[in-house]
Amino acid sequence: MSGRIQAPRGTFDVLPAQASERAEVEAVARRVLERAGYGRIETPTFEATELFSRGVGESTDVVQKEMYSFHDGGFTLRPEGTAPVCRAYVEHGMHKLPQPVRLWYLSTFFRHEAPQAGRFRQFWQVGAEALGSDDPAIDAESILLLAELLEEIGARGLRLRLASLGTPETRLSYRAELAAYLRSHEEQLSPEVRARIALNPLRAFDSDDPGTQAVMANAPLLIDRLTASDAEHFQEVRDLLDDCDLVYDVDPTLVRGLDYYSRTVFEFTSSELGAQSGVGGGGRYDGLVEMIGGPPTPGCGWAAGVERILLASDHPAVAPPPVDLFVAYSDTKYRRPAFSIAAEARRARLAAQVELAGRSLKGQLKQADRIGARFVAIVSEDGTLLKDMESGEQTLVQGSVVAMVLRGRGGAGL
Ligand code: HAM
Repeated sequence: MSGRIQAPRGTFDVLPAQASERAEVEAVARRVLERAGYGRIETPTFEATELFSRGVGESTDVVQKEMYSFHDGGFTLRPEGTAPVCRAYVEHGMHKLPQPVRLWYLSTFFRHEAPQAGRFRQFWQVGAEALGSDDPAIDAESILLLAELLEEIGARGLRLRLASLGTPETRLSYRAELAAYLRSHEEQLSPEVRARIALNPLRAFDSDDPGTQAVMANAPLLIDRLTASDAEHFQEVRDLLDDCDLVYDVDPTLVRGLDYYSRTVFEFTSSELGAQSGVGGGGRYDGLVEMIGGPPTPGCGWAAGVERILLASDHPAVAPPPVDLFVAYSDTKYRRPAFSIAAEARRARLAAQVELAGRSLKGQLKQADRIGARFVAIVSEDGTLLKDMESGEQTLVQGSVVAMVLRGRGGAGL
């Protein structure tokens, strides 16, 4: 066997330069979410397949086509994080805690989708879930937090779409009404839409066929069929967002790819992205905990794709961390003491590197300069010379190099 082995299609390596951008996303997420009372949770990378088939829904693309399932034991690499968080909530008796329980995560997820720009088979999501309250203020707070996070990271060209799906019963009777409407205009619809009337009449809203679009302009909308209490809930979410000056479009055709939603749904898109324009989205999932065997528990949350957030943002190159000390030596016979000095410096919490690339002394000094070392120690037959790269001052070390660097770094000079 020969040939170069490559990473699987739809996956990517995170290299050091990208790792620092990602660390920034994580730092902002932690700041924004923990300020609002969210605690970090991490669930396993794989779960019982049934968690997703029951939770996310048998009829969804995610469950039907996109899950990586192991053939032995009934496990699946998690395609999303909401069902796992709900499982953990039940498993750890979190319903006994003061409600709502607010949890956030930043993890990898797996979907067997056709890879394209912004769409991967292994990707990262930052997500937030609030369980145990059906208060519309939770919906509004959750949306505001995602807006704040995206804004703080610098995502551009954002648009927020908002809708309410009502209860599953409302949706069922609406679907029947919409299917009947489509059937009564069948001759004007595209063949694809016509073929899917029974299976998924809602898809007709996404069609770019002019005949279908003309029919859909007068189609009944789910948002006009909400029960009084669902309509009131939605109005309250809107009022709270208005009070906080968050701009959104009510979009009655907003469809989410997961079955567990009820009432509020929302999605942020970015004009900076191509076809995969969804940066993050979510909504309320009041029936999900019960669906996976827990007590009736309302919930609301969202997830945003880390890669898409970064694609939609200007992320200035993050400077590499500063180096306090570079340890050089005049001859390889001083390599061992130089190595020990660097190790001791790191134990003292200094950022320290030692020459290990076999450079000449001149080359070593150049390297120290290149990485921006604050101090350079040169070990030679004359002892150890410590050079302050800022002032140019040089001192022959008496005693400990590390102690001198620590003192010098504090601004006391050498
Ligand atoms: P979702 O809309 O399926 O929702 O995914 C959320 C976000 O994850 C998307 O907006 C997108 O940015 C990113 N994403 C999804 N699939 C991919 C992919 N193949 N490659 C790159 N990024 C992707 C959920 O997953 C729900 N669990 C959100 C939620 C939380 N709802 C309530 N709570």
